[in-house]
Amino acid sequence: MINHSKPDINFEDKKAVNDVLDSLNLVKGKYVKKFENEFAKQFQYQNAIATSSGTYALVIGLKLLGIKSGDEVIIPTYVCNNVLEAVVNVGAIPIICDICDHWVVTPENVMKHINSKTKAIIIVHIYGIWADVDEFNKLGVPIVEDCCHSIGNLPDGRVFGHKGTMSFFSFHATKCLTTGEGGMLVLNDEALFEKYKKSFINKAATPVITDVQASLGLSQLNRYCNFLNRRNLIAEKYLNNLNQTTLTKINKIAKKTIFYRFPLITDRDINEVVGVFGKENIAVRRGVDSMLHRYLNLNDKDFPNSVNAFNHTLSIPIYPALTDNEVETIINKINTIL
Ligand SMILES: Cc1ncc(COP(=O)(O)O)c(C=O)c1O
Repeated sequence: MINHSKPDINFEDKKAVNDVLDSLNLVKGKYVKKFENEFAKQFQYQNAIATSSGTYALVIGLKLLGIKSGDEVIIPTYVCNNVLEAVVNVGAIPIICDICDHWVVTPENVMKHINSKTKAIIIVHIYGIWADVDEFNKLGVPIVEDCCHSIGNLPDGRVFGHKGTMSFFSFHATKCLTTGEGGMLVLNDEALFEKYKKSFINKAATPVITDVQASLGLSQLNRYCNFLNRRNLIAEKYLNNLNQTTLTKINKIAKKTIFYRFPLITDRDINEVVGVFGKENIAVRRGVDSMLHRYLNLNDKDFPNSVNAFNHTLSIPIYPALTDNEVETIINKINTIL
């Protein structure tokens, strides 16, 4: 079976983890600090705070913004439910908005939802696609960049996560860089970082990652550049060889994504297509599993672009561990089936 996602774990990763195991220092220690420092250095952030998950990084970030019961936080509906859970966790009211016609959210989508209770807007760089945070910054509300799909930089050098008030990342096993589970919070506002240092550090209740996880993260960071190059290379093969009708949308944004996901467009029923590819031993998925507005019983008609994306977006395997042979097989099967 060709998996939909697969972590790239090599000999160096195993050795790095084994070295920490041999040291018998298995809790949060010097490797977590080193991982934070290296992450910040590699992507030129002022700081980086390792957390137990991307979701928890968001919870900390929202708390640092002083968000509390009754405040409103705007979120696009086209994202996984962890984001909604983080907003609800701090007692805020989630205000759900639509996306544009190619998966990310734009200022037009959020503007009508802003009022005096709005305390943050979460901008998701979904699938690794660059959302233009500069445009959102003009709205006068703190911007939280969800970079869980978008670790690192575009080929033109632009690095994700620098434009908002803060940004957060996930190192879940399916993500671009993994520590098994894990996350990172980056505070682009120095005053917030000072606040963090005073309010969270060394608090026993803060979920952390361990040195075992951090050693894996450090090892993955060492070759992260190769990961991005390999994603780009596979994407190029897909863009050049797949049936053009499936590429209508991705062609428009191909220069501004790190290809965490490779979303195709199909008019076929997605569940049926998933089944057909499954029989061919290729795991493809719907672009997102659900939409947030449906959890809140909001009407589909208010989220037309998201519903359209939900019904027609198919995510195909793309990750560094995918072999050239597997890429060929995927291309042939897609061009036959779709
Ligand atoms: C876009 C997005 N945001 C947030 C999260 C939450 O990250 P985590 O699973 O590390 O809590 C995920 C991961 O599932 C995600 O894909």
